[in-house]
Amino acid sequence: MKQIKIVGGNTLRGQIHIGGAKNSAVAIIPAAILATGESKLYNVPNISDRDALFDIIKDLNVDVKMEGSVVTIDSSNIQNKTISEILSKRLRASYYFMGILLGKYKHVEMYFPGGCNIGSRPIDIHLKGFEALGATVTHEEESHKYILDAEKLTGARIKLDFASVGATINIMFAASLAEGTTIIENAAKETEIINIADFLNKMGAKIKGAGTSKITIEGVKELHPAEISVIPDRIEAGTYLIMGALLGDNLEVCGINPNHITALLNKLSDMGVTFEVKENSIIISKSPNLKAINITTLVYPGFPTDLGQPMSVLLTQANGVSLFEETIWENRMQHVEYLNKMGANIELKDNAHAVITGPTKLKGAAINATDLRGGAALVTAGLIAEGCTVISNIEYILRGYENIINKLKSVGADIEIIETEE
Ligand code: EPZ
Repeated sequence: MKQIKIVGGNTLRGQIHIGGAKNSAVAIIPAAILATGESKLYNVPNISDRDALFDIIKDLNVDVKMEGSVVTIDSSNIQNKTISEILSKRLRASYYFMGILLGKYKHVEMYFPGGCNIGSRPIDIHLKGFEALGATVTHEEESHKYILDAEKLTGARIKLDFASVGATINIMFAASLAEGTTIIENAAKETEIINIADFLNKMGAKIKGAGTSKITIEGVKELHPAEISVIPDRIEAGTYLIMGALLGDNLEVCGINPNHITALLNKLSDMGVTFEVKENSIIISKSPNLKAINITTLVYPGFPTDLGQPMSVLLTQANGVSLFEETIWENRMQHVEYLNKMGANIELKDNAHAVITGPTKLKGAAINATDLRGGAALVTAGLIAEGCTVISNIEYILRGYENIINKLKSVGADIEIIETEE
């Protein structure tokens, strides 16, 4: 069994280079098959979610070539077939094949998507969007297979019940190849959506308003291959900045767009963390006398839910009582029991509200990652804890943090992957 072993306390100094955004790449990779031919993707992160998507598109007889972070996808011989339950369950983003195959072939057969266990994670908003475009959705009770069919797709006005990132993107995929114009209202505004719309427009789609709450898509007959670069990962960047606020000595987080993480930067400033913002990097150092603050996670541009768990570790080191509220997912506090096992003082009012009292001295322990960002929180805790921390279930962490061991080693962390008996 692979585990992450950390001996805490080392100062982090030097440069960490941020990779392409997971939550952009997991939409852009499948989107390439909307066109028939060879598309080129740049700055694709080397994470296990990428590999899971490659397995799915290869199963559709699509050719994938990788040279470092450059990925070439050739869909010339693509075949529309059922995406198996095993492949559908490999990651949450498998749901993008619904919008893509519905748009391209007007027929999809696949299963409920996978993803970290941070809530029930329904896809009802996606399916309602597809139905608004003219698709019929069948969910087979016994096999749990989803079958989506449409004679044709017709543009529609779709108001999302919630500003869902996945549903916004999935409806954009299908609507790009519908007849007529689709308007998505209450659309998600996350930066990744702009990146994906840019790719679709380079492929010949006609999308306006990505990044705002109203997106207009004028359907076209077909899309052609194109090239796109994945934007930097704002959540990876934010995670390393939080580590820098705890252990940094002029740690420079490079290759980022600081404008994508203003909500985090504002909260770090409120805590008394000092940092220097440059055009594409931020230099941050350990800050003494951290102030306790309150945090509520919100849709973009609010404080991102994906940084809530890493941020909770910083709050354990603040002077006083911080109130943390998670409003997006209903089960995103599984890391708390392990932080408390290490010596944190976090009281869970319920699965969405935590009261964090600091500062507390954390001691190394044997702990388990429960999900991707919860696992990143445990790595952060291990880096500051006294003594040795061993983290199991690290596959969660490796799905979304490219090369995390070497990136942290390169700036001074005492961290390694160890092999142990089951
Ligand atoms: C994306 O998930 C991200 N994942 C998540 O990141 C991120 O936390 C989330 O957006 C919010 O920013 C990917 O992009 C692969 P949503 P997604 O649809 O699209 C409810 C990470 O750590 N909802 O915006 O699944 C849902 O239950 C991951 O990188 C419905 O009710 O999120 C949740 O409460 C974790 N019905 C809320 O909306 C639906 O049909 C937000 O979901 C869809 C969503």
